[in-house]
Amino acid sequence: MRSLLFVPGDSARKLEKGLGSGADALLVDLEDSVALSAKEAARKASAEFLAAARKESNRPRLFVRVNGLTTGLIDADLEAVMAPGLDGIMLPKTVGGIDVSHLGAKLAVREAEYGLEDGATRIIAIATENARGVFALGTLAGASHRLAGVAWGGEDLAADVGAEVNRGADGLYTDPYRIARSLTLFAAAAAEVDAIDSVYTNFRDTDGLAAECRDAARDGFVAKMAIHPAQVPVINETFTPSPESLAHARAVVDAFARNPGAGVVGLEGEMLDRPHLARAERLLARLGGL
Ligand code: COA
Ligand code: MG
Repeated sequence: MRSLLFVPGDSARKLEKGLGSGADALLVDLEDSVALSAKEAARKASAEFLAAARKESNRPRLFVRVNGLTTGLIDADLEAVMAPGLDGIMLPKTVGGIDVSHLGAKLAVREAEYGLEDGATRIIAIATENARGVFALGTLAGASHRLAGVAWGGEDLAADVGAEVNRGADGLYTDPYRIARSLTLFAAAAAEVDAIDSVYTNFRDTDGLAAECRDAARDGFVAKMAIHPAQVPVINETFTPSPESLAHARAVVDAFARNPGAGVVGLEGEMLDRPHLARAERLLARLGGL
């Protein structure tokens, strides 16, 4: 997955548009983009959409962002959207591995109830939306075999710490958010799941989005969340491994294959050791998931 597009769950029109957007995954939202008074209507619209969309061939993966564990809304959300069947749940306001295990238990019960395969419903955690979540990032590893990705968010975090803004005059995230972003990268690597970059809210600024995508891909993020269909092609392009990087990865794997048992080899004047091989293998493995 490279691009994950948020679509408000109460908008049948946007849900339909999302399906044709080219996004690798849709994040059907029942949380912050849906007013409290519209939650029930959004559950119904989302369930109807999922039932139809999952039958389409060549469709994006279908995730639903439910309301957080402490809202009192999540059980009704899960009841509504799990019956039609979906690929996974995005959990907002995640505070560490305990929350992921807690959601995993809820999913296991419903998978059994609806005759779905145990473990089929994956989890993506948005794990930096409050300060407690940031401190608990290290507990995500090993929390659940369902965990497929860790995403970070800077908007709710800014509200939690009482910041005036989260970006400086240069448009770049300020230090507290850079830290949350970096820790997300480490948390995802430690858990051996995808690191997913935060949304870029200025959806008309394609150049700014592209620059942020390049920074994220450089640092090890493999995907980015989108809020508007126009962001999807920009994200897909940046997070698709280039032919050059794939050719290089294959050359690295081949170099080690030619020298079985070698800890270090040379390729085009560069020293390569085990971490280079691991990185090359990971890049090639990602191709299978695209
Ligand atoms: N998914 C699918 N379709 C979308 C979309 C989205 N996230 N955002 C916009 N569109 C559609 C619109 O419906 C419109 O199509 P139409 O004119 O045929 O109806 C087209 O794309 C162009 O939209 P545009 O006029 O540029 O934007 P807007 O003012 O209608 O919407 C937002 C702006 C921000 C309200 C909208 O992009 C949105 O709802 N984003 C997702 C918000 C969200 O889920 N937030 C939670 C996570 S932070
Ligand atoms: Mg939010």
